[in-house]
Amino acid sequence: MFHAVTTKGQQPRPHLMAALGEAGRAAISAYLQTLENYRPTPLISLPGLAAENGVALLHIKDEGQRLGLRSFKALGGAYAVASLVLAEAERKLGRKLMAADLASPDVRAVAAGMTVACATDGNHGRSVAWGARTAGCSAVIFIHAGVSQARSDAMAALGADMRRVAGSYDDSVRIAAETAAREGWTVVSDTSWEGYEAIPLTVMQGYTATIGEALDALVEPPTHIFLQAGVGGLAAAIAAYAGQRLGPNAPDIVVIEPERAACLFASARAGRCVTIPHGEPTVMAMLECATPSPIAFEILQSLADGYVTLREEEATDTMKRLADPLDGDAAIVAGESGGTGLAGFLACNSDPQARAHLGLGPRSRILVFNSEGATDPAIYARIVGRTPEEVLGQ
Ligand SMILES: Cc1ncc(COP(=O)(O)O)c(C=O)c1O
Repeated sequence: MFHAVTTKGQQPRPHLMAALGEAGRAAISAYLQTLENYRPTPLISLPGLAAENGVALLHIKDEGQRLGLRSFKALGGAYAVASLVLAEAERKLGRKLMAADLASPDVRAVAAGMTVACATDGNHGRSVAWGARTAGCSAVIFIHAGVSQARSDAMAALGADMRRVAGSYDDSVRIAAETAAREGWTVVSDTSWEGYEAIPLTVMQGYTATIGEALDALVEPPTHIFLQAGVGGLAAAIAAYAGQRLGPNAPDIVVIEPERAACLFASARAGRCVTIPHGEPTVMAMLECATPSPIAFEILQSLADGYVTLREEEATDTMKRLADPLDGDAAIVAGESGGTGLAGFLACNSDPQARAHLGLGPRSRILVFNSEGATDPAIYARIVGRTPEEVLGQ
């Protein structure tokens, strides 16, 4: 369901926007260029779905292919770990370093003495674990009761020390921070809190790579971007980058959340960051957050044009729809949270009031992000009825 809540007018602090502009993207690009397996993810046009929905263009940026880690999160946590290692090595070695220096023996020796920690629903932790292994430091990852064993195993396979804690995602964030403070580890969180903003901002800076790649590839910029949100980092990073790059042609930004975990929508309505009560678990596991990241909310408060709350079946129906496309469209493997940006567009487009409010119509150019592939293939197969390989005809 679409909600036309907007509190536009309050400007985010300038350093947040600066970190998520072209300079920020240049910094993450320099890091990505050092990675052997880096290539831009596919930007896929779905002409069949665009025609069915009466819009000019519908593009989906497929982050299921990102760095072999199956989600856009690969861009944030790993990049923040690399940045922290470089900063610590600069301090210890007393000279300026670049991303390419991460492979040098003296930088790796510094990394070997470092431990990073985070809480995760799965994808951020996979990125931090991979980033730590690549840079040569240790990672301790905190997961809550609802994180699937397959997702935990994927992080353990990357060498992370896994700690399962009681309670919700928000509890795991708190326990990770408390334990790290006690142990002298560095928390690499994708969500911010009072007094802890620089690292989550670096994580979000990593996400500018996906929107940067998309805008580089598009002939004409999108008129609307539909962005799924957990704590809001992805949506805020994309809104901030696109807004600054496109200026007067900036697209409308619509934030998509599960009905059962709509903390950004609740905060937008309240006009400040609020924590919502924990409800039933949602299938959109990666979006199950009760408290927004304050720095993300600060940006979205100024840039979001509306919010969508999704029912459970809107997410799963969209996964099936992407797996079983219209004639001429490619099949796309989208995990439980991956297709929710598209689900948000479809929800708005079938609601006359939302269509009118957002000006959706035959001239609209829609951009959405498949933010994850089948990050838990068994859950994917249960929902879609086919394995990811079967969907892709492999
Ligand atoms: C696949 C996927 N999509 C979307 C999100 C939401 O990102 P954020 O928490 O930055 O809003 C996440 C977060 O973990 C995710 O893993």
